Amino acid sequence: MIEQTKTGIDGLDDILNGGIVTNSTTLISGNPGAGKSILCLQYLYNGVEQFDEKGIYLSFEENESDLRQAAESLGFDKWPEYVDNGDIKVYDKQVLLRENDFSSSLELLLDDLEDDEYDRLVLDSLAMFELFFEDETEKRTYLLKFTDILRENGLTSLLTNEQGAVFPDTEIGLENYLTDGNIYLIQTPTDTGVNRYVWVAKMRKQNIETDIYPMEIDWGGIKVHQNASAFSMMSEEESPI
Ligand SMILES: Nc1ncnc2c1ncn2[C@@H]1O[C@H](COP(=O)(O)OP(=O)(O)O)[C@@H](O)[C@H]1O
Ligand SMILES: [Mg+2]
Repeated sequence: MIEQTKTGIDGLDDILNGGIVTNSTTLISGNPGAGKSILCLQYLYNGVEQFDEKGIYLSFEENESDLRQAAESLGFDKWPEYVDNGDIKVYDKQVLLRENDFSSSLELLLDDLEDDEYDRLVLDSLAMFELFFEDETEKRTYLLKFTDILRENGLTSLLTNEQGAVFPDTEIGLENYLTDGNIYLIQTPTDTGVNRYVWVAKMRKQNIETDIYPMEIDWGGIKVHQNASAFSMMSEEESPI
């Protein structure tokens, strides 16, 4: 049987048929505001709170106090406590970008990555991580190296990616091939706000529900609803909701 790591997010583990494959790397893709960072926060928070698993948050976009505020606004009350006691270790952009190349930043991290204490890791976002590199080859080499390091050290990781859902005419980035799974967060504007959806497009070794499911972001974080949406990725039409 394949070992799974539960996200603890209502509804999401169900459509993953149990959870994310342990020791895999999953891409969380979506446009700005789709909920990628919140999903990451919640994944690490639930890890500590529900499963007694420690996590590492590599945050290239928000600093530690931004994350703290976001967590508070969602009702993740114990976030500050978990960060202070080391159950969640945050490397924010101030720390990560202080080093001027990726090797130096990796040196900083390596002790923690090699430490068996941590089970979950989040890298938010790949777009910013990629700014370390001068050209495509260097970027690919390091991305490959990095995802290998994560797997070798037994981490179950989420990497966020600023990319809308894949349509046949868009270029598919290398990161999609280097990762074991791909979850898209989708938002469509409505008169009163946005409708949100989640689509698990790929999960290696796993029989997943590939329908698109409605989700919401509110107090308590992301909730995924079980009634599959009639929304189709291959049509230009708006959701009927
Ligand atoms: N406390 C909250 N309650 C309800 N919705 C929230 C809350 N905090 C953030 N959101 C919604 O989540 C969206 C941001 O999600 P975020 O995870 O930061 O997006 P991104 O995909 O860019 O990382 C915001 O645009 C906002 O609509
Ligand atoms: Mg974000």
